[in-house]
Amino acid sequence: MQVSNLLSGKRGIIFGALDSNSIAWKVAEKCHEQGAKFTLTNAPVALRMGAINQLAEQCGSTVIPADATNMTDLDNLLQKSQEILGGKLDFILHSIGMSLNVRKNKPYTDLDYDYFQKTLDISGLSFHRVLQSAYKSEVMNKNGSILALSYIAAQKVFPFYNDMADAKALLESIARSFGYHFGKRDGVRVNTVSQSPTRTTAGSGVKGFDTLYDYANIISPLGNATAESCADFCVVMFSDLSRMITMQNIYHDGGYSSTGVSVELIDIMNK
Ligand SMILES: NC(=O)c1ccc[n+]([C@@H]2O[C@H](COP(=O)([O-])OP(=O)(O)OC[C@H]3O[C@@H](n4cnc5c(N)ncnc54)[C@H](O)[C@@H]3O)[C@@H](O)[C@H]2O)c1
Repeated sequence: MQVSNLLSGKRGIIFGALDSNSIAWKVAEKCHEQGAKFTLTNAPVALRMGAINQLAEQCGSTVIPADATNMTDLDNLLQKSQEILGGKLDFILHSIGMSLNVRKNKPYTDLDYDYFQKTLDISGLSFHRVLQSAYKSEVMNKNGSILALSYIAAQKVFPFYNDMADAKALLESIARSFGYHFGKRDGVRVNTVSQSPTRTTAGSGVKGFDTLYDYANIISPLGNATAESCADFCVVMFSDLSRMITMQNIYHDGGYSSTGVSVELIDIMNK
C-alpha cells in the first residue's frame, strides 16, 4: 500500500503480540512501517516463549512485561513507556483474549465460575484497567486513540465462542462508556474493531474454528479480513485521519455482519 509516515512522531503501546500469527504482531509491523515508536507488552508467562524479542528487535522497541489484570503492572508499563519513548502517548492497542472454559472444553451450559471470572477479567475488564490507568496518570496526548479487538459473538450467538462472547460484549460496552469520559476531558478516542475469524493461537482455540472460518469466508462478499488488513485498519484508527471516530464498534469483516446469506452458501446447501 502506497502510504507512508501516517504515524510519524506518534508514540504508543501494543499489547498481545505472542507470535508472528498474532494480530498485534502485524499491527506492530505496520505501525513501525508508518513511523511510530512504541513499546511492546505481554503477560510474563507469554514473554517466556521469547518470540516477542524478535519483533522488538525488528521494530526497535522495548518489551515491558505486564499482566493486564494487574494494576501495578499496568501503571508501571504506562510510566516506563513514556520514559522510554520520550513523551506522552498517542495510541494503545489492547489485543488480549483468553478463556479457561474454552481451553478446557467447558460448555456454556456448564461453566466453571472461577474460570468465567478470569475470562471477564482478562478479556474484558483489563480494557477498563488500561483505560483507567491511562486516564488517571494523564499519559495520553490530545486526540490520542485507544483500540481493543472484538468479535461479532458480542452481538450474535456463536455457541462455541462460549463465555468469550460475554467478555466481548463487556469489552465493547467499556469502549463506549470510557470513550465518553476520555473524549470529554482529553479528546482521546476509544473504539473496538470487530475482526473476522483469523488463524492465531487465540482464534484456533475455539472449537470448530476451521468450519467457522470457512463459513464466514463464503458469507462475506469480500471474504474474511486477514490479520494484515486488520493491522492496516488499526493504523488508520491510530492516525489523525480517523480523528472524529470514537465510542464505536467497527466491523472489519469483509461485510459478514451485514449479510444474511450468500449465493455460495445456498449453492452448497442445494447440493
Ligand atoms: N483470531 C480471531 O479469530 C479473532 C477474531 C476477532 C477478534 N480477535 C481478538 O483479537 C485479539 C488478539 O488475539 P489473536 O487472535 O491475535 O490471538 P493471540 O493468541 O495471538 O493473542 C492473544 C494475546 O492475549 C495475551 N494475553 C492473555 N492473557 C493475558 C494477560 N493476563 N495479560 C496480558 N496479555 C494476555 C496472550 O499472551 C496473547 O498474546 C483478542 O482480543 C481476540 O479475541 C481474534
